Amino acid sequence: MAMTQDEMKQAVARAALEYVEADTIIGIGTGSTANYFIDYLAEIKTSIAGTVASSEASAERLRKHGIEVLDLNNVGEISVYVDGADETNRQAHLVKGGGGALTREKIVAAVAKKFVCIVDSTKVVDVLGAFPLPIEVIPMARSYVARRLVALGGEPVYREGFVTDNGNVILDVHGLQIDNAPEFEQILNNLTGVVTNGLFAMRPADVVLIGSETGVTTL
Ligand code: A5P
Repeated sequence: MAMTQDEMKQAVARAALEYVEADTIIGIGTGSTANYFIDYLAEIKTSIAGTVASSEASAERLRKHGIEVLDLNNVGEISVYVDGADETNRQAHLVKGGGGALTREKIVAAVAKKFVCIVDSTKVVDVLGAFPLPIEVIPMARSYVARRLVALGGEPVYREGFVTDNGNVILDVHGLQIDNAPEFEQILNNLTGVVTNGLFAMRPADVVLIGSETGVTTL
């Protein structure tokens, strides 16, 4: 019987347990795939030193399992960061932020020694951009940044009614075809009023685990 997308997410989340190092602090992503990882991590919670979460939602789920969630400022080192993505190309450049947690995700990814990305096979693409690229923006700069994004060839859509964990808003940019992700990430970073963009390319994933019909493979 064919595997559902949910079963592929579960399989890849379980496979990520192999990257968990005993007695170290683990960075935790956000989203449905990361949620499965949290649930599996609970089975081995006594072997880790604690976690740092990339969202309030993930922190809550971790605490419900009795897993300690630490403040990043009180943590020296994160051995591995495990998170999903909305898209990945074959260079492990990612689009993230569908759940709106991109800023804290990028911070935890920056700190982590290793970034293990867990996706189902529907997330693997040749060219990034079919999934609208999320950009977290300071609220007063929303219209200005949107105009700049149009000038860059995108179609920004304000994510109405959504406020990030940091009190900001999200523009989802449609219509992009991102050929040089590290370069485009830097161009977007340079727009005044942008807090974070959802391209994870300057710091790509170190390992991408892909859950497919035939099992879990590594990119
Ligand atoms: C959260 O902000 C995103 O970056 C997630 O990593 C992404 O949306 C993946 O979510 P799913 O695992 O639910 O597809």
